[in-house]
Amino acid sequence: MSQWTKHDLLGLDDLTKEEIELVLETAKSFKEVSTRDVKKVPALRGKTIVLLFFEASTRTRTSFELAAKRLSADTINISPSTSAISKGESILDTGKNLEAMNVDAIIVRHSSSGVPKILSDNLKASIINAGDGCREHPTQALLDLFTIKEKLGRIEGLNVGIVGDILHSRVARSNIWGLKKMGANVTVCGPSTLMPRGIEECGVKVSHNLSEVIKTSDVLMVLRLQLERMQDKFLPSVREYAKIFGVNKEKLKHAKKDIVIMHPGPTNRGVELSAEVADGEYSVILDQVTNGIAVRMATLYLLLGTKEGN
Ligand code: NCD
Repeated sequence: MSQWTKHDLLGLDDLTKEEIELVLETAKSFKEVSTRDVKKVPALRGKTIVLLFFEASTRTRTSFELAAKRLSADTINISPSTSAISKGESILDTGKNLEAMNVDAIIVRHSSSGVPKILSDNLKASIINAGDGCREHPTQALLDLFTIKEKLGRIEGLNVGIVGDILHSRVARSNIWGLKKMGANVTVCGPSTLMPRGIEECGVKVSHNLSEVIKTSDVLMVLRLQLERMQDKFLPSVREYAKIFGVNKEKLKHAKKDIVIMHPGPTNRGVELSAEVADGEYSVILDQVTNGIAVRMATLYLLLGTKEGN
């Protein structure tokens, strides 16, 4: 097993296969902590972790905060609307001020790609990317990989279909890096207007035929239409999108019998997938949420808990 040497977690593009495996292995041992009556271990006692979320979030923010607390770290939430950022302070100045208070890690979510990198280039605290623009969302992909391995016993050699708004999805990008490094075959599927040009260069297949993708997939990752990121008209209508690319029971008729259906949340039922499928036998959506805590505990522990001098 490789040693963890990284100071920040900016994306899966930066991690090796061995480092991804180390996170998944570490997460396995942390998963049990959340099932205890007293859900706490002392691994990060005395560490201070700041959550700096510039975008809406339920799952990711709560999951990171619970992960930090279950490792006994102290957490502080900063929301831009009530902080000095609303008075015009730059994010770098905010970061420098947090650093002056000796915080150990900053977990950041921002609508601009590259914000976590700017902070990591300028601050001593560990920076953890909780989603930057359309670029990466590394802990989401790590929890997805963990869930796939838990459900199917392996990742290597599996056929994984990623369906939906690939263009605007940081979840898709991080998963493509992660899945490819772990040896899966990835096909991305969606309307051509929501397909990034040249995506094949990442080693994925492109399809616009959902039924074909469903037929061969061991895992189907369904993504939300990121309407808040669409400046142009990328789709004739949401209804038409739902008809062609929405996943429902009918379209799953020819799926493998143990297909795993995933979604990072939040789901728009009736758009990218039907309620029946979201709550159905193949769905692992809530397992993903449960596993998110274990994977984030592993990430925080590897970044903050095992280095000398920390
Ligand atoms: C995703 C995100 O914010 O990138 N959600 C999440 O973190 N669970 C996906 C989305 O918003 O559709």
